[in-house]
Order: sequence, then C-alpha cells, then structure tokens
Amino acid sequence: MAKLPPRFLIQIRIPMAQFGTVFCDHMAIARFENGSWGEAAIEPLAPLPLHPAAHVFHYASTCFEGFKAYRWQDGKARIFRLHDHVARMQRSAKSLHLPVPDADLLAAMVENLVREQFDDIPEPPSSLYLRPTLIGTLPNIGAAAAPSTEATLFVLASPVGDYFAGGARPLKLLVADTFARSTEQLGSTKTGGNYAAALGPTLSAKEKYGVDQVLFCPNGDVQETGAANFLLVNDDEVMTKALDTSFLHGITRASILTLAADLGYKVIERNFTVDELLAAIPTHEAVLSGTAACLAPVGCLVYKGEERNVMDGQPGPNADKLRKALQDIQYGNAPDTHGWLTEVRT
Ligand code: PLP
Ligand code: COI
Repeated sequence: MAKLPPRFLIQIRIPMAQFGTVFCDHMAIARFENGSWGEAAIEPLAPLPLHPAAHVFHYASTCFEGFKAYRWQDGKARIFRLHDHVARMQRSAKSLHLPVPDADLLAAMVENLVREQFDDIPEPPSSLYLRPTLIGTLPNIGAAAAPSTEATLFVLASPVGDYFAGGARPLKLLVADTFARSTEQLGSTKTGGNYAAALGPTLSAKEKYGVDQVLFCPNGDVQETGAANFLLVNDDEVMTKALDTSFLHGITRASILTLAADLGYKVIERNFTVDELLAAIPTHEAVLSGTAACLAPVGCLVYKGEERNVMDGQPGPNADKLRKALQDIQYGNAPDTHGWLTEVRT
C-alpha cells in the first residue's frame, strides 16, 4: 500500500485545524515585469523577498480569490467553478489597475498546485482551499496615484474544514445600517482593504453584542457580511440583493440561485431594506453564502440593541435542501449539469 505523507495522517485522525492556518508545502508563483508575465513555477512555500517600498505595503494594491478542490471517491479531485473565480480575479485586478493575470496562466497555476498537493486534499466535507493572491511590487513610495507596473501572483493551498468555529450552530448577526463595508467603487473587488474596513465594526459588534458577524446595511440597504453574501429563503422563494458594485458578487450566491431555480424556487434578486428584512424573518430562513461559509444558517439578528430570532432561531429545511444540492455536486453525489467542475488527476 502506498505510504501516506505524515500531514495527511494527522488530518484524518484529529479535527481540522482552524480555517486558514495550515498550508501545503508548495505554492504556485508568477511575476509580471517589463510589461509581461513570466513563466509560472511551483516552488516550496517560503517567505517572499519584497522591497519595503513595494506598492502593496503603502497603497494596498492587492486582490485575492478563494475557492476549493474536493477529493472524490473515484480518486480524482474537482475544483469548483475555477474559471469563474479566475474571471473575478481578473475583474478585481483590473479595478485596482494591477497587471491582469492571463486566465490560462492562473488556471494552470491552480491546477498544477492541486496536482502537486494532491495527497493533502482531505475527504469531504473538508476540502483544499485555494487562495490566489496578486500584489503590486513596484518599489516606489511616490506612486500613490499611479499603478504598480510590477506584480507578483501566487497561489496558496490550505486543507480546511469549517470556517465558522461553531460548526452548524446558527449565527447571530448585528444589523448595521449606519456604515458600509466598502465603497461604491471597490465593493465588488475582492481586495484586502475591504476586509480592513470591516474589521473594526466587526470586532466592536462582537464585543458589544456577542454577535458572530455584522450584516452591513448602509442607509438601510441589506448588502452582505464581512466575508459572505446574505440570502432569505422560504418554501417558495429565494431572495437576495441585486448585483451592483457595492458588494462582492459571490460565486456561491450565483450557484445557489441557479440550483434554487432548478429546484423550482422563485429567484428574486432585488434590493431590500432593513425594515423589509425584519418583516421577513418570522417567515423566512436567513443564510450566509460563501466559499468558506458554504451556506451557514442565521438564527438571530440584533437591531437597535434588540435581539430578534429568525423563524424559531434554528437551522431551517430550505437552507438544508439548497446546501445539500450544492454539496452533492461538489462532492460528486449528483451530476454536474452546469459544468462547474474542473477535474484534476495525478
Ligand atoms: N462577500 C464577501 C465579502 C466575501 O469575502 C465572500 C467570500 O469570498 C463572499 C461574499 C462570497 O463569495 P464566494 O461565494 O465567491 O466565495
Ligand atoms: C471565501 O469564502 O473564500 C473568502 O474569501 C472568505 C475569507 C475572507 C475567509
């Protein structure tokens, strides 16, 4: 019998480490210099030598992606919606005026890394989380209003389990209607600055109200949390905010809406207010959707200091049904009728 590497043995014997804290021992890397992308390489995971004047350190020229590869019973791996994540990375890079990675280059970097770390892909429900990251490396502290013409693109791989520490425990959210998570121009860009902006309000909401996350609803417009989209669902319909530039266009959100339509739900993409949200929660389940979050039930909202249960405060059947439909495709228990999976074999 083939010998499993030691790290894999540890993963199957003990619960997964905290999300994002364990890394595979290789990364994929490519550099943009003199107007073009160089060849990508798979290298041992190691610190990056960066000039202290690098654009990213001073002017936050950075964006990233997050998606997963799953190990199937057939011994091969599947990456979920690789090409959609690559396309979103390209949109993020463009909006930050960073060199835009070629789609083929980035997709090949990811596939090669998954192949290299194949033995580290855990069994479902765990997975291998993939984190492409692009940073501006131009050493020029004068370039505050100029783009970085040099960049490094790298991909990390990390075996992961649950993102929310409580597992299936329903989440508690603070409904915040006085501040935004991001700005109109960068809300749909997956850039570090948006997470920095959400951090302070999230930490203070956790401390003050004991919530898990903040639901950002600037001027009453129900948008998203710091790391996931927000949806309402009942037996008949799934409702979420319509796409605009103020929030991240989640690929899990898009997948759930597609599967919901397949299952006969009416899909409603429209803006709705905090008042409408509060009126809906006695009769609608609420969920967070995201690669890391999957489809996480929300049990309670805190608004103006008052706690309000979502339905009876427990995970609901419609969220379970939609999550199962998604995971069945990801884990290989249902056909991939939408062509969302990229097969990787050793
Ligand atoms: N919104 C934010 C702010 C996120 O960070 C994420 C996670 O990537 C999402 C939504 C969900 O996006 P996706 O479903 O593509 O992972
Ligand atoms: C993801 O769901 O992939 C994310 O990027 C969330 C992350 C900020 C933990």
